[in-house]
Amino acid sequence: MTKKTWRVGVAGLGTVGGGLLQFLAERPDFAPAGDRAVVTAVSARNKTRARPVDISTLAWFDDPVALAASPDVDLFVELIGGSDGPAKAAVETALKAGKPVVTANKALIAVHGAELAALAEAQGVPLLFEAAVMGGTPAVKMLREAMVGDDVVSVAGILNGTCNFILTEMEKTGRSFADVLREAQGLGYAEADPTTDVGGFDAGHKISILAALAFGCAPNFEAAEIEGISDVELLDIKLAKDLGYRIKLVASAAKTDDGVAVKVHPSLTPLYHPLAQAGGALNALFIEGKRIGRIFIQGPGAGAGPTAAAVAADIADVMTRAVRPVFQAPAGALAPFIAIDPARAVGKAYLRIMAKDQPGVIAAISETLAECGVSIDSFLQKPVEGAGGVPIVLVTHATPESNLLDAISRIEKLQTVLERPRLLRVARI
Ligand code: HSE
Repeated sequence: MTKKTWRVGVAGLGTVGGGLLQFLAERPDFAPAGDRAVVTAVSARNKTRARPVDISTLAWFDDPVALAASPDVDLFVELIGGSDGPAKAAVETALKAGKPVVTANKALIAVHGAELAALAEAQGVPLLFEAAVMGGTPAVKMLREAMVGDDVVSVAGILNGTCNFILTEMEKTGRSFADVLREAQGLGYAEADPTTDVGGFDAGHKISILAALAFGCAPNFEAAEIEGISDVELLDIKLAKDLGYRIKLVASAAKTDDGVAVKVHPSLTPLYHPLAQAGGALNALFIEGKRIGRIFIQGPGAGAGPTAAAVAADIADVMTRAVRPVFQAPAGALAPFIAIDPARAVGKAYLRIMAKDQPGVIAAISETLAECGVSIDSFLQKPVEGAGGVPIVLVTHATPESNLLDAISRIEKLQTVLERPRLLRVARI
C-alpha cells in the first residue's frame, strides 16, 4: 500500500499543542500503519508567543473554524478546550467536511459527545479523544476497544492531577489548600481557570466520558454529582489518617439495574489501597468487568509529553482507517442514561463534629445517629489545639445517604455542637 501523508491541522498551541508539534516534527513516520503525519496548518490565540518549534513555515489561521474547513487539511486536531465556542464550532466544521477529528477536549465530549458522535458516524469518520481522560494513560481505548467483550459494572479513580497534587502536598507538608494551589498553578497541569480542577468539574467531565464508554450511554455531565476539594481542611486530612484513610478526589461511575450513578467527591480511601498510594499529580483508575474482574491502571494524566503521546496515538488510529462507534454503541443506539437519585446511594461515611468538650456530648451524638439508623464503625475524639472545640470524628457503617443527611441536620441543632458536621464519603473501591 502506498504511504499517505496526512496534512494535520492543529487548533490550540498551548502545552499539549506545543508537545504535539515537537513530536510530529521529529517523528512524522511514528505510526505503525506506515502513513506519515505532517502538521501543515495551525491556529492559536497568539501568533508570536515563544513555542518549542518554529511555526513560521506553517499556514496560520486566526480562526480555528477556517482551519477546520481548509481544503489543505486532512485531519483536524482540536486542542483549544471549552465545551462550546470555537472548539465546538471547529470540530463540527471538520466533521461536516468529512475529516477525522482528534481532540483532547474533555468538556466538549462530556457535554456534546452524543451529538458530535452522531455527526461523525453520519460522515463515517472517526472522532477520537484518548487525551481527554488521564492524559497519556490509555483509559479511553481500554474501555472502547479492549473491554467490549465484557460488561463493565463500575469505574472509579483519580482523574485530576491538580487535585491529587494539592491533597498530597497538604498531607506531606501541612500547608494550606490555598498555598499549595498557587504552586500547582505554576506547574502547568492546572486548567486555565483552577476552579475547573478544584471544583471537581474537570474530573466530572472525565468520569462522564468514561461512564459513556463503559456503559454504552450518551455522556451526561449534567447528571454528575460533583463536589470538589476547596473545602477539604488539613484537620480532616490528619484525622482521616488517624482512622486509617487518605483523602483523595475520587471520580466514580457505576451501573445497576436502577440506572447509572456518576460522582466526584473528596473521599476517604484506605491507606493500603492503590488509589491512596497514587500520589502527586498521578492519575489512577479501577475498571470492574463482569467477566474480566478488576483492572488497575495508573500513570500521568497531564503534561505536554504524555498528553501529546495520547493525541499521537489517536492520529495513528485514524491512519488504520478503522471507524468504530464513538462510544460503546452507534450514536443512534446509545442506552438511555437513567440517573440514580443520590439520596438513595448507600455507603460508609466520615463525619467530623466540632463540639463543646463537656459531659453528655458523645451520648447525644450517638443517640441521634441511632435514631436516624446510622451505625458507627469507628470513632475518635482527639483534642486539637486551635480547632475551636473538640473534633469528634467517626466512620459509619454503610448507610443510605438520606439517613446521613437527616442525622447531620439533627446533630447540627444539638446545643453542644458548634457547626454543621463535615461529611466526607468513604470511597467504594
Ligand atoms: N487540569 C487537568 C489535571 C489536566 O490537573 O488533571 C489534564 O486534564
